[in-house]
Amino acid sequence: MSLERGQFSSKLGFILAAAGSAVGLGNLVAFPVMASKNGGAAFLIVYLFFVLFLCYPVMMAEIAMGRRTQRNPVGAFAELSGGSRFWHSVGKLAIITPFMIAVFYTVITVWLVVYIERLLVGDLSVLAEESTFGEVVAEPDLFVYLFLLLGLVFFILLGGVKGGIEKLARVLMPALAIMLIILTLFVLTLDNASAGIAYYLVPDFSKINLSVINGALSQAFFSLSLGMGILITYGSYFSREDNIPSSTRMVAIADTSIAFFAGLLILPAIFAFDPNTNTDELSTSSVGLIFSFLPKIFLSMQVAVGYVGATIVATLFFILVFFAALTSLVSIVEIPIAYLIDEWCVSRRRAIAIQATALTIFTIPATMSLGISDFFTNFTSYGGLTRSFFDVVSNVFYETILPFVGFTVCIFCAYRWKMSGLSSELVIGDDEFEGSLLQKYLNFALGTVIPLVLFVVFVSTVNQIYFA
Ligand code: PHE
Repeated sequence: MSLERGQFSSKLGFILAAAGSAVGLGNLVAFPVMASKNGGAAFLIVYLFFVLFLCYPVMMAEIAMGRRTQRNPVGAFAELSGGSRFWHSVGKLAIITPFMIAVFYTVITVWLVVYIERLLVGDLSVLAEESTFGEVVAEPDLFVYLFLLLGLVFFILLGGVKGGIEKLARVLMPALAIMLIILTLFVLTLDNASAGIAYYLVPDFSKINLSVINGALSQAFFSLSLGMGILITYGSYFSREDNIPSSTRMVAIADTSIAFFAGLLILPAIFAFDPNTNTDELSTSSVGLIFSFLPKIFLSMQVAVGYVGATIVATLFFILVFFAALTSLVSIVEIPIAYLIDEWCVSRRRAIAIQATALTIFTIPATMSLGISDFFTNFTSYGGLTRSFFDVVSNVFYETILPFVGFTVCIFCAYRWKMSGLSSELVIGDDEFEGSLLQKYLNFALGTVIPLVLFVVFVSTVNQIYFA
């Protein structure tokens, strides 16, 4: 085992870092919109069901794989399978996937930085104009922000697991929670906010159909950072004295609570803007919502709190989203670094240099995909639409491969590592696991219903994106 491997300082350090990874754009934007469009509390119930019965077991399995082997996803699959070439390749999927997801997540985070800068110079009214987003993403200046952001991410990662990743989460996660509470309380004082709350919390079961159920599962999976090799890697930094089932539960609760509160912030804000909002018209894409729609909502608050007040609220919101995105980005960029340290036996510095070079090379075309370069903007077409390089990366890795990696983790744990292997790791640090209902449930479901459901989601996503 490499001497360069780090470890979290405590159970709390692990929980904060894993929650830092989990809480991201998915919680702050995608979840509230999905919930409001798909039956409010009815969607919430379906979502909670999936978190509890599907995602929680897969989270524990990923963390246990990492902690048992003390290695990155490739090393973990290889070691637990006794050196099988096939599983070694599956492990590689859990390195390439986070790498490619990091590519497009970086690009979105760069836009957040640009928006924060624009707000700080007083440009809220400009950001609220219809054409601004299209202009921002097509400006060659983006590269300046891109390089600054990449510099920041790699600087944090140079600090290592404890001094970099964990320290960042210890500062940003509490800050994020406080900002979310302040903003939510403020928004709830606006006129018509109660219409938004009602819309969010009154269940409408008639909206629930197969595609909503499918969406709820994908969202839960994505939101908890599953299928990206992140939890395997973070598990490898988790002490063997600590309790996996209870720590995992805390991460899932933190992630889900933040998603829930984000709904209490965004929907009342939207309804305060226009009490007759038809939520069917809300953009499904988180990107469209944050960058095009929300600035308008913030600008409208000037009636209540003046232009400066509205700018402060908008700035706080964008900083909040930026913090969430930064902790997620750091977590995902770490995965290939852990791989290089473990499998190529290079120092952490060197692994960071390699990863920084690779990520820079890939983020450049992704940044140019929204207008800067014609070639990358109209990169290819499938499913009846023209797709940019950015779209391809997002469709293939973000939307398609995640449930598939989750599926392979279940099959691997149930049939290759075997349930007895997984159980023997989960009992360490948890005296109550042996013989518990949770253990019985895992024994039953991890090799049957869970992978089956994930496989169905995978097939239906492929169908929807590529053959629509
Ligand atoms: N869980 C994150 C979210 O909800 C997803 C993510 C994690 C994306 C890590 C990239 C990196 O947004």
